[in-house]
Amino acid sequence: MLVLGIESSCDETGAAVVTDDGRVLSDVVQSQVVHAEWGGVVPELASRDHARNVLPVVREALARAGVTLEAIDGVAVTCRPGLVGALLVGVQAAKGLAFGADKPIVGVDHLIGHLLAVFLRRDDAAREAPSFPFVALLVSGGHTAIYRVGGARADQIVELGATRDDAAGEAFDKVAKLLGLGYPGGPAVDALAAKGDPTAVKLAKPMAHARSLDMSFSGIKTQVAALVREDPAIDRANVCASFQRTVTTVLADKLLAAADREDVRDVVLGGGVAANSELRRRVTEGAKRAGMRAFVPPLASCTDNGAMIAYAGALRLARGERDGWDLAATSATVLTRVTRKGRGAR
Ligand code: KG4
Ligand code: ZN
Repeated sequence: MLVLGIESSCDETGAAVVTDDGRVLSDVVQSQVVHAEWGGVVPELASRDHARNVLPVVREALARAGVTLEAIDGVAVTCRPGLVGALLVGVQAAKGLAFGADKPIVGVDHLIGHLLAVFLRRDDAAREAPSFPFVALLVSGGHTAIYRVGGARADQIVELGATRDDAAGEAFDKVAKLLGLGYPGGPAVDALAAKGDPTAVKLAKPMAHARSLDMSFSGIKTQVAALVREDPAIDRANVCASFQRTVTTVLADKLLAAADREDVRDVVLGGGVAANSELRRRVTEGAKRAGMRAFVPPLASCTDNGAMIAYAGALRLARGERDGWDLAATSATVLTRVTRKGRGAR
């Protein structure tokens, strides 16, 4: 089965052609540059840029896969969660293409796309895949949560813990902004951290208690802001190294604690922050020590892309599921949340 997937939930316009066994025939991602000067994603600019790019990106994905729309078995599109205006562009484009070519359409939850991206195969080599159930840390600019993934269906995926405030990627972006490193900040902090001493600057570890899988990343950003205010000439590499060590230690420790608690052997990383070199290393090494298997997908599968949406949609189509032409864009995920947002005891 061949599925065209379309992603437009935030600031990447993506389209891909993927088979229902995860083979990626093409995966085209157009990252929006319009947000850089604002230091964050501007929703209205995102919608307009998606509207300009969605059809060229789809055409490119079909061309690279060497197929026409007629050869496709269905169209999958991110319909939640995300910026509603941005999502709407993808959903409407997908409806037009599917209706015109007389193909079925399925909506995909962006988070489920991320959680299943570990099954994508981007080259001919048979990639080792985790087995269900696994525990996954999804960590991006918009989301930070740990899930037990018992299968590909939404009702088989359970949130075990999540951030109560900022996403970890958001903290990377804000710290980069405080240090004048530009947007998006994650890659810049990662690169500068490699040149710094992670013990030179003291930062408190947020919500490090072993028993709770809840997380919090807004306080550490405030700590960094105070440090920079006190000493504007502070060594930026040391701040990056300390910040990154603190955040990745919390993320890796909670992921491994969750797997241990769930009695699960396979752990998986997903989302844009999974690109972080220290997080990848900590999870890989920590899992090995604990006798677990860590699966860290290639970068192209971790950041927002159409292939993960096509694959999650292909599994829905293969189960015989279809959506109607009334498929709507929604800002909230379909996955049940257990973590209370904001301060205070649970
Ligand atoms: O998944 P993604 O592409 O988009 C969504 O947020 O959904 O993730 C983007 C986030 C940004 O916050 C970016 O700063 C962060 O991932 N990021 C990183 C790295 N590369 C990207 N964070 C830390 N280290 C990196 N190397
Ligand atoms: Zn994402």
